[in-house]
Amino acid sequence: MSRIPVHVAFIMDGNGRWAQARGLPRHEGHRRGATVVKKILRIAEKKGIKYATFFAFSSENFSRPESEVNFLMNLFEKFLKKYGKTLCEKEIRFRAIGNLWQLPFNLQFAIENLTQNTARFDRFHLTMALNYGARSEVIQAIGNLLKNKDVDVGNLTWEDFEQYLYTKDLPDPDLIIRTSGEQRLSNFLLLQSAYAELYFTKTHWPDFNEEEFLLAIEDYGTRERRMGKINDKTND
Ligand code: FPP
Repeated sequence: MSRIPVHVAFIMDGNGRWAQARGLPRHEGHRRGATVVKKILRIAEKKGIKYATFFAFSSENFSRPESEVNFLMNLFEKFLKKYGKTLCEKEIRFRAIGNLWQLPFNLQFAIENLTQNTARFDRFHLTMALNYGARSEVIQAIGNLLKNKDVDVGNLTWEDFEQYLYTKDLPDPDLIIRTSGEQRLSNFLLLQSAYAELYFTKTHWPDFNEEEFLLAIEDYGTRERRMGKINDKTND
């Protein structure tokens, strides 16, 4: 059996282009994109992955037209409300990471509710990055760390520092999948992805499916993860 990643993170790109290529409004791409999230979650669980994180909205996405931002905020809220019961039934723990306090109150409320209702679960972890930006995460982490007078800044370790990140309760991603042909991280989990394997596909997110996902997992299984060390067998 090939190696399965513990934590897979997704940069769900290409919703707009998928819709435009079909003469549809961009929001149709987002709507379809949300259904793909559900399907991918089911496959992730089935394959024995334990953590799935989705980059749903970057801090920079707020500069999109107001109508698109509003559509997405409503879509996220509806998704959490509609899917919340299933998450509880399937014992999936939900978290959201990002500058959540800048999100519409209704969405913040839905996030808080679901976070609390699923806090006792550990079988599978679903995380949504909403209004997330890695640089802002780091700046906030440093600010909070410096407020803690007990911290010995001169002897700080990575393990100390990561306690101040949004992801403090999550393992680092093993595999990051980005759809739609762009080959960059776009301010997503920059520190956490230090040793992540990256997988890029030209497929737009609304068309990302089981077959594509299994290909990505299979490809991950072939990667040699040295994490900065030397391979014992080949010494190279
Ligand atoms: C990037 O595609 C996608 C987004 C900015 C939004 C991501 C949101 C979803 C996939 C919906 C997910 C829904 C839930 C409930 C998690 P883009 O619009 O930048 O596409 P483009 O680069 O082709 O314009």
